[in-house]
Amino acid sequence: MMMRAVEVPGYGDSSVLTVTDRPAPTPNADEVSIDVAAAGVNFADIEQRRGNYHDGPSPPFVPGLAVAGTVTAAPARSDLEAGDRVAALTSSGGYAARATAPVERTFRIPESLPWAEATALPVQGLTAHNVLHEWGDLSAGERVLVHAGAGGVGSLAVQLADAAGATVFATASTAAKRDRSRELGADHAIDYTETDVADAVLARTDGAGVDLVVDGVGGDAFAASVEALAPVGRIVSFGMASGSVPTVATPRLFFANQSVLGYHLVHALDHVPERVLGALPALTDHLASGRVGVVVDRTVPLSEAGQANYAASKAGVLGLTRTAARELGGKGIRVNAVAPGYTDTELLEGSQGHESAVEADTASGRVATPEEVAGVISFLASDAASYVNGEVVRVDDGLAL
Ligand SMILES: NC(=O)c1ccc[n+]([C@@H]2O[C@H](COP(=O)([O-])OP(=O)(O)OC[C@H]3O[C@@H](n4cnc5c(N)ncnc54)[C@H](OP(=O)(O)O)[C@@H]3O)[C@@H](O)[C@H]2O)c1
Repeated sequence: MMMRAVEVPGYGDSSVLTVTDRPAPTPNADEVSIDVAAAGVNFADIEQRRGNYHDGPSPPFVPGLAVAGTVTAAPARSDLEAGDRVAALTSSGGYAARATAPVERTFRIPESLPWAEATALPVQGLTAHNVLHEWGDLSAGERVLVHAGAGGVGSLAVQLADAAGATVFATASTAAKRDRSRELGADHAIDYTETDVADAVLARTDGAGVDLVVDGVGGDAFAASVEALAPVGRIVSFGMASGSVPTVATPRLFFANQSVLGYHLVHALDHVPERVLGALPALTDHLASGRVGVVVDRTVPLSEAGQANYAASKAGVLGLTRTAARELGGKGIRVNAVAPGYTDTELLEGSQGHESAVEADTASGRVATPEEVAGVISFLASDAASYVNGEVVRVDDGLAL
């Protein structure tokens, strides 16, 4: 059977994504076959497309790690059957009409959970719940700091932490994102672009700090995580959206009896699946009841997967540039030093329509002029830059697939 899919024929920016017809995947004995109703766009999809993802697939491949849809076939040993509504974590292949996923990574979902929202369950939802609870051991009454509190994982983590009775501190780069994180339940929303995050947290906790930090940003954010941590506190490190590898001096940790834990969903599923999946009942219940909502920024047809990918990556790219702009003041931006792994095209696309477009030259590290820096800052302040992840590629019923 042939199916419609979106392929990465070679690593590159969002323009490489190509709509194509290819044979539908055949499930092996341990896999479920799924008619895809919606696929989520995750940070990892973008990094895989760029060729930056550790152990990522080699081109040509169909990206997409999180799908929601209807089971067409399931292994006999499973309790799934054709017609079941499910969400699943694939190893890739989600941007397609048909996908396969390991049976133990395919989860039945209730009728009340719409397809688009359901795509958040296997990656962002499990990650948010795991870092807070199964890894972070959050208790009611504790204080938790959620970096990127309006992002895909962050927006769910803010709600889950609030639902657990924690006091929630969230960071975000724009006023719109901070408003969103407050609406989702953050007690304090911190503008990390203008404010020292650790100082802000310590000031609002009478110097006590937070009991738990969930940190998918790394770099400067991780340094703030360490500074803002209370004695006996925990940091769960699960990513480095900033592109900077976080480090910590261990004496600082052992003198204060603090812990830094690492979390990686896929590898945790390999090693401690029961610990990861322990989150499912509560998470599914939260999502199905609407107590925890998935922020779906937009849905687009499969054929526009490139646009969704591009939009999901844009804020982050420019976020890097803004940090540098602030640090360097009027002196300029050395683009390759602040945007590792991002292509010229993406940076150029990000500043399109603005008089002072930044002409990124990632190869030579050309330093941008003050006018270009001003252009980036004004772009970042505009509505056009206020993207969050949680973008969804929907395979519309109406499409011939
Ligand atoms: N370990 C795992 O298993 C696992 C699973 C899922 C996700 N993750 C990781 O978790 C992180 C968040 O994922 P997500 O799906 O929630 O992505 P996302 O929605 O794109 O969130 C990333 C957010 O990070 C913030 N950010 C701060 N500095 C940034 C920078 N320099 N570049 C890019 N973004 C920056 C941005 O929000 P502001 O504009 O507010 O700064 C951005 O929206 C990523 O690092 C991802 O790799 C890890």
